[in-house]
Amino acid sequence: MWAIAMDERIRLSVGEPDFPTPAHICEAARRAMDEGYTRYTPQPGFEDLRDAVAHKFQTENGIDARREQIVVSCGGKHSLYNVMRCAVGAGDEVILLQPYWFAAVEQVRLAGAAPVLVDCPATNDFQPDVDAIGLAISDATRAIVINSPCNPTGAVFCRQTLWAIARIAIEHDLLVITDEVYESMVFDDAEHVSIASLDAEVASRTVTINSVSKTHAMTGWRIGYAAMPARLAEKVTHLQSVSTSGPCAVAQRAALAAITGDQSHVETMVRSYAERREMMLRHLRRVTPVRFAEPQGTFYVFVDITGLYGRVIGGQMINSADDLARVAREMSALEILPATTFGAPHHVRLSFAVAHADIERGFERLGRLLA
Ligand SMILES: Cc1ncc(COP(=O)(O)O)c(C=O)c1O
Repeated sequence: MWAIAMDERIRLSVGEPDFPTPAHICEAARRAMDEGYTRYTPQPGFEDLRDAVAHKFQTENGIDARREQIVVSCGGKHSLYNVMRCAVGAGDEVILLQPYWFAAVEQVRLAGAAPVLVDCPATNDFQPDVDAIGLAISDATRAIVINSPCNPTGAVFCRQTLWAIARIAIEHDLLVITDEVYESMVFDDAEHVSIASLDAEVASRTVTINSVSKTHAMTGWRIGYAAMPARLAEKVTHLQSVSTSGPCAVAQRAALAAITGDQSHVETMVRSYAERREMMLRHLRRVTPVRFAEPQGTFYVFVDITGLYGRVIGGQMINSADDLARVAREMSALEILPATTFGAPHHVRLSFAVAHADIERGFERLGRLLA
């Protein structure tokens, strides 16, 4: 067989931008060190950064947020964790839409609550089934988590769907936790809408989570932020004060430059993702018998591989996404992500946040593997 050396590995499994952090953001970090930003920081983050985040939410997302509602954290993941720990506990249920981002389901469990999964069927392009959400609600339901643009499916929820979810949340007095870290990556005529922008009542029960990781190619800086009801922000700030303390000073100064400075890098990156998305979709259309929905957002394509089940590839029978990922890794040094931990064992997630050449070479290898 033609196993390829592991040092020629191609990673279509990555979950982060392949761009470097823009120069003006790095420069702000260097300046911060020179200016002595080397000490503990305020527990909810620097005031000027919280103000900048509030302004960003107001002007870009239509969310009427004030400084006391903003908590800066060590990443969007950290924001989600803190909120979950403070908002729900033992005996509570939290609705998650399946497929879900793997960390969200674990964080519900870590908070002592029970995840209740509501399927977003592939037949509906992974859009939420609002009636199914209504049916999943019990007396114990406290919150619903949404993630649009969605990792792993690439679905972007439209205003009408968000309104339907909001009405359910209002009727059942639920907290809405919305993870919007991929907000800038939307394609064709898709539009990112923040559920908290719908009206003041929705905003009053919503936590909007975001971060500089994906939008500004800053995954390693570990800065996230969230807008939430002020009383919850106090609890989250307390949790942060007894756990991580305020986030890294230098990284916060870099995040301030990212949020308030020149934004042209965002458009440049999104244009490049759009090109690479087209390229990947062109390749995928030639790979039979897999099925996929064209992603409206994120930098992932979510691929149903059940059409390959029962085939023997590289001496192994394929009966799950894990099987295919293992064979691709062992035989072709090609990393693809089985979506098993996202609650979708029959799908793989392919990332187009990789070089054009890697998409080409990755699909050459996949073509040979499946030939
Ligand atoms: C859906 C989703 N939410 C949140 C995050 C967390 O991002 P970070 O903690 O880097 O801000 C990620 C990262 O992969 C993600 O995919």
